Amino acid sequence: MENSEFGYLEFDQVSFSWPKGANVIDQCSFSIVKPGLWMLVGENGSGKSTLFRLINGLIRPKSGKIFCSLRPSMVYQNPDHQLLMPTCKSELMLSAPKSIPYRNLFDLIQASLDKVDLGEMLDRPIHTLSGGQKQRLAIAGAIVSNSNLLLLDEPTALLDPKSQNSVLKVVKKLTSSSANPITAIWVTHRLEELYFCDGAAIFKNGGISNWNSGSKVFQELKSLALR
Ligand SMILES: Nc1ncnc2c1ncn2[C@@H]1O[C@H](COP(=O)(O)OP(=O)(O)O)[C@@H](O)[C@H]1O
Ligand SMILES: [Mg+2]
Repeated sequence: MENSEFGYLEFDQVSFSWPKGANVIDQCSFSIVKPGLWMLVGENGSGKSTLFRLINGLIRPKSGKIFCSLRPSMVYQNPDHQLLMPTCKSELMLSAPKSIPYRNLFDLIQASLDKVDLGEMLDRPIHTLSGGQKQRLAIAGAIVSNSNLLLLDEPTALLDPKSQNSVLKVVKKLTSSSANPITAIWVTHRLEELYFCDGAAIFKNGGISNWNSGSKVFQELKSLALR
């Protein structure tokens, strides 16, 4: 895996439990070895957000191993819990690595806004943005911070269809760009989104099923719901 042309993420028999609880993540093994948009679906409370915390290093496995050469960033359901500053520019200045020379900072910020289709929004107050624009700004923050693994935890749950589409389109573009594609793991309850992914899996009983096509997972979930 270390020789992979791209970055990699691998879980090897990872288990985790919150204090006094049973295993939320239970002997979970999976890997992602190339960039793309990878979607996860699973019931509420099944452990998807806990999985993201493990990937992000906020919590550690009780047993098993995580190998990750990618630099993760979280994008939460509610961007208002994530965005801290008054304007797009100041928000992205906060996200930029401190090592960036000041003379390069604004080019970097502008380029990241361009990448999420917010090129005109440099000085725009954040409170005037739509929900979808806020989510794309959160994604620009991840890009500015030099992250190459987006962990999107139900990023469209609070959005109207137009905003939902704009976020999906941007993440699709970032994960399939020919120059420097990144990896995104996207948790969703909105099953129609599965048609945009490069692979999908069901999170259940503390683990992840094999990666399948989005349409196959969509069909599988529909048939379960009809039973
Ligand atoms: N910080 C926490 N402390 C204790 N228990 C938690 C914490 N976060 C989540 N849990 C528990 O872990 C389980 C999985 O939660 P979560 O990972 O948020 O699921 P999902 O994101 O799939 O809805 C739930 O039973 C939840 O109550
Ligand atoms: Mg969750």
